[in-house]
Amino acid sequence: MENWDVIILGAGAAGLFCAGEAVRRGRRVLVLDHAANPGEKIRISGGGRCNFTNRELTRQSAPERFLSENQRFALSALSRFTAADFIARIDRAGIAWHEKHRGQLFCDGKATQVIRMLLSDLGAGAGELRLDCAVEAVRREGDGFEVATSLGHVRAPHVVVATGGKSIPKMGATGIGYRIAESFGLRLTETRPALVPLTFAEQDLARTAPMAGIALPARVRHGRTSFDEDLLFTHRGLSGPAILQISSYWREGDMLNLDLFPGRNLAQELAEIRSTAGRVALHNALARLIPEKLAAYAVAETGLSGRLADQNNRALERLADQLHKWEVRPVGSEGYRTAEVTLGGVSTADLDAKTMEARAVPGLYFIGEVVDVTGWLGGYNFQWAWSSGWAAGQVV
Ligand code: FDA
Repeated sequence: MENWDVIILGAGAAGLFCAGEAVRRGRRVLVLDHAANPGEKIRISGGGRCNFTNRELTRQSAPERFLSENQRFALSALSRFTAADFIARIDRAGIAWHEKHRGQLFCDGKATQVIRMLLSDLGAGAGELRLDCAVEAVRREGDGFEVATSLGHVRAPHVVVATGGKSIPKMGATGIGYRIAESFGLRLTETRPALVPLTFAEQDLARTAPMAGIALPARVRHGRTSFDEDLLFTHRGLSGPAILQISSYWREGDMLNLDLFPGRNLAQELAEIRSTAGRVALHNALARLIPEKLAAYAVAETGLSGRLADQNNRALERLADQLHKWEVRPVGSEGYRTAEVTLGGVSTADLDAKTMEARAVPGLYFIGEVVDVTGWLGGYNFQWAWSSGWAAGQVV
């Protein structure tokens, strides 16, 4: 049987980064993945340009921007290997990048540059990547572990589970990391699709479907959490960054409050138009301010009709409320088929925040998305993959 110093399960962002760190420390590292190519999610991320980190991530902002049963768990790894540290790596590799929106950093060129950087780190020492190799189980074997794979058994004193979550099974997600954790008696927190479009019931869709394709800035609120981002109407419900963000907080049966004209006063702006162009039809006046199909929808929902000049201030307020205080109750989400990440996972209560080692199973580590740490949209999830991978990479 082959013996290695470290076996890493999963050649995604977390696994490859951890492998590079361990190789740099002179360890003999085997990385296993059942896919034909490494880092497939990196390749498709950020529209092919990989939003690899976020500059707004600080020790102060982190607890808010990462969801977990223990919101402080991620702080140790995130503050020992920071966004600035990863930017320095990207710079050293000569990868050009730019900032897009709210601290989000993207490659100027293709995301495959990041994969090449990670593979080059792995190849710089005693590292081997074995693809088309499905991990089936991990067992305790003496002081170390035996990993059963579709290509036979391999052994090491350190095993790092970096197999990701359940999101996008078509891209290789299997959820095996959770089964490995359970087989060693580790606890799991409930998993659910996150950063995912939300869907409407048939009767709501009948009214909103004509707006499919409309994108506009919105403020979306769930309880005390709100996001000011773009919103997109779809044939199934709602999507866009505002909805993906709030989806991590929303639960079945919950209401969302949307302001589709955020930061402005719709009634006042309509009253101003009324003073100069009152003869225009109400929905046409509204269509000067918001997309036409949304204007038609809002006017129909309020039951108003006629010219703008026919509407008194109370009518304009009612119409404005329809858009400033739109309440929707999605029935579900598009699920793991399109979710960018999995919320929940291996309980942080059973892991050491400094090393990511399972407290009760010395030598077994969990990093990246498989852990119950889920970031906001905008590069936070990759930063968690780098930081948690780095933390384990220093000790395996
Ligand atoms: P990841 O899923 O990357 O890797 C797990 C690996 O394990 C995979 O290669 C898989 O094949 C392998 N594996 C699974 N089961 C196995 C088994 N049984 N045997 C062997 N191998 C197995 N985040 C961000 O910060 N910025 C962004 O721009 C984006 N964009 C984005 C777009 C899309 C479409 C998605 C789906 C996701 C994103 N994300 C993102 C999220 C980001 O991709 C995600 O958080 C990281 O990829 C998680 O890294 P991991 O290494 O933990 O898992």
